[in-house]
Amino acid sequence: PRNRIFFWKVTASTLAPDGVTRPVLLVNDKYPGPKIEVNRGDYITVVVQNALDVPTSFHWHGFTMRDDPWYDGVPGMNQCPIPPGTNFTYTFGTDNTSGTHWWHAHFENQYIDGLVGAIIVHEPPETDPFLHAYDEERTIIISDWYHQPTGPLLAHYLSPDSHGMEPVPNNGLINGKHTFNCANVIPADLKCEKGERTVFHFLPNRRYRLRIINAGAAAPFLFSVDQHQLQVIEADGTNLNPILVDSVPVNNGQRYSVILTTNQEPKNYWMRAEFGLDCLPKPTNLDPVILAEVRYQGAGAAEPTSVGRFVPDPNSKEPQINPAFVEACKDLDLFQLHPLQPVPILEPISKSIQVRISFKKNETDNIVRGYLNDITYAADPWNPTMMQNLKDVVQYDVAQHVMTIDKRDSIVQIILDNSLGGEHPFHLHGHVFQVVAQGEGLYEEGKSQLSAVNPVRRDTATVPRKGYTVIRFKADNPGVWALHCHIEWHVTTGLVMQFVELPDELRAMHIPKQAAQLCEVPPPAGFKAD
Ligand code: C2O
Repeated sequence: PRNRIFFWKVTASTLAPDGVTRPVLLVNDKYPGPKIEVNRGDYITVVVQNALDVPTSFHWHGFTMRDDPWYDGVPGMNQCPIPPGTNFTYTFGTDNTSGTHWWHAHFENQYIDGLVGAIIVHEPPETDPFLHAYDEERTIIISDWYHQPTGPLLAHYLSPDSHGMEPVPNNGLINGKHTFNCANVIPADLKCEKGERTVFHFLPNRRYRLRIINAGAAAPFLFSVDQHQLQVIEADGTNLNPILVDSVPVNNGQRYSVILTTNQEPKNYWMRAEFGLDCLPKPTNLDPVILAEVRYQGAGAAEPTSVGRFVPDPNSKEPQINPAFVEACKDLDLFQLHPLQPVPILEPISKSIQVRISFKKNETDNIVRGYLNDITYAADPWNPTMMQNLKDVVQYDVAQHVMTIDKRDSIVQIILDNSLGGEHPFHLHGHVFQVVAQGEGLYEEGKSQLSAVNPVRRDTATVPRKGYTVIRFKADNPGVWALHCHIEWHVTTGLVMQFVELPDELRAMHIPKQAAQLCEVPPPAGFKAD
């Protein structure tokens, strides 16, 4: 094990990933930001220099932050924001976290503006079950993309005029690139040039592990490569009994590894990320399929002519919807996904919590907000729960939507119920949970089918529209952990709650000096003290 140090400078800049120039936030001048690649067991240190004129903070999505809850990066819950013009050093271990993960800003909605990147934790060869299953690997970051920064988008979204309709993406990107038709650019005076697509250069007859990350703000995608099948071997860091598929739905925050074998005619093929159009607000002139090129060696640089799996019937008079757009709004079938290292279903349940997702208009300001059990999460206070909690008895404001889990090793079940027409990818911090049920309608204990044998373990699971998802985890990780919808707009609008896990143990832990010091800095003007 080594200590791996990364130096990051966070700046405001402009960039044109798809040819359309817009203001962005960047780490080390790159989008996506720098990739962190380490071996399991290494210690990661990230020295963040905040050169913005607003605060920031970073979250390590996929890491349980065991023993390091101070560095989980959630303002209002477990850390104070990093004030503008200052440095902060994150340190955390990677003991049980090999796999495909990612990092993103967790202060307000900064990640939508560009503060995202991959974290790859390699399993040591002695213990890697897939050591001989592939020859090379590539990281593929997919995301929706907006031509305006979050400032104006949010101003509209959080006003009565939006009627709760989320901002609609203008494009999507694969590894920070895509083309855009400048005739469609809004507002029309934005500087627009033809963008480029990402090109993957592959050798024939080799096996490529593709590590796919959806680092977008809202849109789910269906990933595929024309004329190739994909062998799924990892979901959110959990190695799986391989399954063969044509395409993989990847929702916000989720990751999959698939193995693609270059055993087709040595030509060029499209790699596709199809928008979950069917689950996004109103249709736009958005390009429904985001493309990259897979070039076999020797095939030249000509654009692929391959076709996708959905070919509309030219004789049909009815408009035809690509079933892919529907499929993209769901998770891969829970009953087909099983970890390679089996673990029995967690039981008996000591605490079962039903969480109902809803949206409603506030009568006083006419703004539509999201609610979990009729509580909407208010803006992050400057002073995080975890710091307050360490001094006094646990006492919270309903607006901060806190639940406490007191008993070590108790098994917690969360039933996420969604009666709405949209899907919601839910992420729990601090844990890799078991997904024990997922389906349509209302969950009924004892009646709805459980994935009881070796359920998949992951950290982000989709709650299907008009459906449910049930997760379980063991309370063995002291900290303050967020549970939220990973549609980033819904974080702003209130689909967030927090768990104070094992407060007694947490109080007995030693707060790292610099984490405590960060909370001594007075909040900048415009923030309330707590
Ligand atoms: Cu990836 Cu709280 O988020």
